[in-house]
Amino acid sequence: MQLLPSGRALTAGAVAVVTLMAGGSAAGAASAPVHPATPTGTAAAAAAPDIPIANVKTHLRQLQSIATANGGNRAHGRAGYRASLDYMKAKLDAAGFTTRVQQFSASGRTGYNLTADWPGGDASQIVMAGSHLDSVASGPGINDNGSGSSAVLETALAVARSGYQPTKHLRFAWWGAEELGLVGSRYYVNSLGSAERAKISGYLNFDMIGSPNPGYFVYDDDPTIEKTFKDYFSGIGISTEIETEGDGRSDHAPFKNAGVPVGGLFSGADYRKTSAQAAKWGGTVGQPFDRCYHSSCDTTANIDDTALDRNSDAIAYAVWELSQ
Ligand code: TRP
Ligand code: CA
Ligand code: ZN
Repeated sequence: MQLLPSGRALTAGAVAVVTLMAGGSAAGAASAPVHPATPTGTAAAAAAPDIPIANVKTHLRQLQSIATANGGNRAHGRAGYRASLDYMKAKLDAAGFTTRVQQFSASGRTGYNLTADWPGGDASQIVMAGSHLDSVASGPGINDNGSGSSAVLETALAVARSGYQPTKHLRFAWWGAEELGLVGSRYYVNSLGSAERAKISGYLNFDMIGSPNPGYFVYDDDPTIEKTFKDYFSGIGISTEIETEGDGRSDHAPFKNAGVPVGGLFSGADYRKTSAQAAKWGGTVGQPFDRCYHSSCDTTANIDDTALDRNSDAIAYAVWELSQ
């Protein structure tokens, strides 16, 4: 925190005062700390916070416990799915989000999407970030996709902790029945009228972002969203590649098909790491990015903490950058 010459703390509300002084002739301000000039009437861009990896991992342990207590999975139509959704919803409600549970039916079982709106911002410009919350029936789904689900949750909680008030409206989402063929996200997109769909400025998708032999893949869709993620990674000195392991294989596809700008991150599934990829990212050549993809060993042990941390911070960076 900076101090004004008078000793008053520099808060967001005091920024305009400092700006006027810096641009004007305020005598005696020569020894004031240098403050970056801000165009009059425009708030300084808020910087994204660092997402605490410890918090993301706490959510992953909770999802693992939920799977363990419910037959080893968190799959569509099973008790472990509903318990996963209730865990997310309780955290979001307590943080001040407006949550909504949307029910649908798939394969004869009830499924649920969860959305969480952060009050405020321009309702005609909505930035969305989402992840699928269901696992396959054969395992607990910690990398696929507890990783994306927990990182998006922690980003939402960081919005609340920082009291962030972006220009645009923020909405976070957790999809059901992705593993049955993108059922929940397609149901959601279809449930919006075309007027509501047109208000979504961008949808950011996170499906598998802590793969144990990780790559750093950015979706090659909307150029602005893609550039935002690439800027984050170049800023921390990590090279990225375009995601090629099956375009349209996750919940961004229904949004993209409806004309919404989309983007996202991915750390790899069952494709194998090449020697060129191992040279830049480390890890094991010739092995899958996630050898436990869709299997019972997709547990809390199946996570690379560094990849999960970088991708979580990249999510926060993009949510902040794209909403102001
Ligand atoms: N969506 C797939 C799943 O959940 C994983 C996956 C494969 C994927 N290829 C992808 C996710 C490309 C994002 C991008 O099983
Ligand atoms: Ca972090
Ligand atoms: Zn997935």
